[in-house]
Amino acid sequence: MKRIGILTSGGDAPGMNAAIRAVVRTAVYNKVEVFGIKRGYAGLLEGDIEPLNIYSVADIIHRGGTILRSSRSEYFKTEAGQKKAVKTLSDFNIESLIVIGGDGSFKGARALSNRGVNTISIPGTIDNDIGCTDYSIGFDTALNTALDAIGKIRDTTSSHNRVNVVEVMGRDCGEIALFAGLAGGAESILVPEKDYDLDEISDKLLRGKDRGKLHSIIVLAEGVGNFDDFCHKIEEKTGVSTRGTNLGYIQRGGNPTAFDRILASRMGYMAVNLLLDNKTNRVICIKNNVYTDLDTNEALEIKKNFDAEAYKIANILSI
Ligand code: ADP
Ligand code: F6P
Repeated sequence: MKRIGILTSGGDAPGMNAAIRAVVRTAVYNKVEVFGIKRGYAGLLEGDIEPLNIYSVADIIHRGGTILRSSRSEYFKTEAGQKKAVKTLSDFNIESLIVIGGDGSFKGARALSNRGVNTISIPGTIDNDIGCTDYSIGFDTALNTALDAIGKIRDTTSSHNRVNVVEVMGRDCGEIALFAGLAGGAESILVPEKDYDLDEISDKLLRGKDRGKLHSIIVLAEGVGNFDDFCHKIEEKTGVSTRGTNLGYIQRGGNPTAFDRILASRMGYMAVNLLLDNKTNRVICIKNNVYTDLDTNEALEIKKNFDAEAYKIANILSI
């Protein structure tokens, strides 16, 4: 193997830069050339590709976002798109590709593997919705960003004796909501994986108020939907002044935590070594604190396990 391509795809996540750095440095160490593909599969289709060296990745380990930038490409999902992508790689003499992204991006990598490109995928998404891995790059940072915001919201919520409903990201997966809610001592946590009962939530808020509680925080995952409507209903049912805060894209940016930098560094290092060992069509994961790799088909079949125990604990502790 002489040349590796690397791209970041789907929603960006803090720590992607640390992973790019790890890939480039490990490749250079092993005398393998690395090419950066800009804007994910869209840039691959356009041949927006340039060589990377140890200097290209200097001073990025601590930076959020992705120096390679990211995108979503519908055209890449088509047969014509994938044929074009393979041709571009071949024009650049790139025989192996490292993809950093979510499960959609992994499907793209699998499609390229089926067309003869060696691929290794690295989980990078703040949602932590990938079944084969306990952690994806960016989740820990986003979680801590959400937690920091909840702490600040708690201050003002107490001063005004209010309820605050905090919406966090997570289209199909409640991981950020669940763990930010547990760590932030939220009264209620609403996730797409579980139905909720408005009466139960309101009763709990009123019980807390009767005990002299000054504030109540509800954490709601984006995928639950009806954020504004939910805030109005809570105010209507409890008679307590209720505000809503949507944390939005601040969760996708910022300096990665130590956890995400280490995860990214180890996974980036592993990705190059797998290619050096002639492995292809693999996804890197961490399970029960062990770094491992799985066939992409197998990895994509694993459903994300909702942590019902953590959800139960959060409910008991917020009685
Ligand atoms: P994520 O990787 O974060 O899950 P997306 O689902 O948006 O994000 O996927 C990122 C990109 O991966 C898509 O824009 C598309 O180019 C590619 N992709 C997604 N699904 C497929 C698929 N089934 N086959 C081929 N490429 C795909
Ligand atoms: O990165 C994951 C995620 O943040 C989801 O939680 C969210 O629904 C989605 O990406 C939004 O991303 P964009 O607006 O970039 O499509």
